[in-house]
Amino acid sequence: MHKLTKATKLVDKENNYYAHASRINYYDLVIDHAHGAILSDVDGNDYIDLLASASAINVGHTHAKVVEAIAAQAKKLIHYTPAYFHHVPGIDLAKKLTEIAPGDTPKMVSFGNSGSDANDAIVKFARAYTDRQYIVSYMGSYHGSTYGSQTLSGTSLNMTRKMGPMLPGVIHVPYPDLYRRHAGETEHDVAMRCFEAFKQPFESFLPADETACVIVEPIQGDGGIVKAPDEYMQLVYKFCREHGILFAVDEINQGLGRTGKMWGIQQYQNIEPDLMSVGKSLASGLPLSAVIGKTEIMQSLEAPAHLFTTSGNPICAAASLATIKVIEDEHLVEKSAVDGEYAKKRFLEMQQRHPMIGDVRMWGLNGGIEIVKDTKTKVADSDAATKIIYYAFNHGVVVVTLAGNILRFQPPLVITHEQLDQALKVLEDAFTAVEKDEVSLPDNSNKIGW
Ligand SMILES: Cc1ncc(COP(=O)(O)O)c(C=O)c1O
Repeated sequence: MHKLTKATKLVDKENNYYAHASRINYYDLVIDHAHGAILSDVDGNDYIDLLASASAINVGHTHAKVVEAIAAQAKKLIHYTPAYFHHVPGIDLAKKLTEIAPGDTPKMVSFGNSGSDANDAIVKFARAYTDRQYIVSYMGSYHGSTYGSQTLSGTSLNMTRKMGPMLPGVIHVPYPDLYRRHAGETEHDVAMRCFEAFKQPFESFLPADETACVIVEPIQGDGGIVKAPDEYMQLVYKFCREHGILFAVDEINQGLGRTGKMWGIQQYQNIEPDLMSVGKSLASGLPLSAVIGKTEIMQSLEAPAHLFTTSGNPICAAASLATIKVIEDEHLVEKSAVDGEYAKKRFLEMQQRHPMIGDVRMWGLNGGIEIVKDTKTKVADSDAATKIIYYAFNHGVVVVTLAGNILRFQPPLVITHEQLDQALKVLEDAFTAVEKDEVSLPDNSNKIGW
């Protein structure tokens, strides 16, 4: 059992000043420093990080190349706003992002400070380009915390409660969930049922010729690492093309190698998004986001329609160029795919021994392990999932839950095989300990998770 004396005191102190709305409570981890896939807390405990700062540290903590780029740039120029003038890291990064974005159509970039504002940008550019107002988004999605991106989201009532009215003109449709499919349904049946549900608004209240775009997470992240069937995504893409509706993807959580492809949308065949949002790991967790879109669309607004004083900051841009180079040089996309397959196999083996594991979903080092009361009824077991993450934390592994009962498995892509094996062993021990009812929770356990 780790001693958390210093950490607990610090968290108690912070609780006097830090607003509830700004943190989802899990446990008292006060991080002092981190390297690779290892976090070290203020009490001197080390943890294997299975969260990567919510998929924002794909190349690992304090990667030497990224640190070097940040330090070198900080000595030269900390900031000058791109709203007025230019700097070399920003110029180089804009070019690089248009080159690595999926598809051959020429693209342009606009920078921001957070994934959330990049999704707001999608709404702005899509409306401007199409001269249409409606946006279709998904239930279960998470797109961020600005008014626009929060309106697009559909994952927690707390993101709407007490704050309405939200952005007008946003319609939510269901996202396919193969695990909770109806009895007897094949993957094709799920794709067709969900595509019918997708079309329903267009047949009853939503004129397709007034719809600007569909925005989708290629794999829903906070929704539980849920991937739609390829057939479904193709149908939606085709529908968009037929009706002049833009197809936009949110790559903030799933992009940059996370799924074992450079971009999450590459999990599907031959889809070229019109617009995409990137953030999180883009600058290894420094505040930088980008919306990347087809040139024609990105030229549909005039300044100052989308600019921020601190966006495209040179230090963030330098960190981003270094991060992308690390992903390429260290073959982290391929490593994510290979290690993800290995982790999936290990979880599937554990599923044979632990009936509480209802579903194992994994694309790259990117998994959702669903904890249920009973594999037949698939009733979520949030209490057990909370105990598992708490046990893991006390045994040196940082992992959190999604949607209450789903273990979020998103380690830095540089995690070593030994670290991966150690983390998987701790998780298996956690399953056993919870089954034997050996794990007790702290007093505030009712407040753990979303
Ligand atoms: C898919 C997705 N989109 C957007 C966001 C919002 O990004 P940010 O928190 O940087 O604003 C997140 C953050 O979790 C995300 O997972």
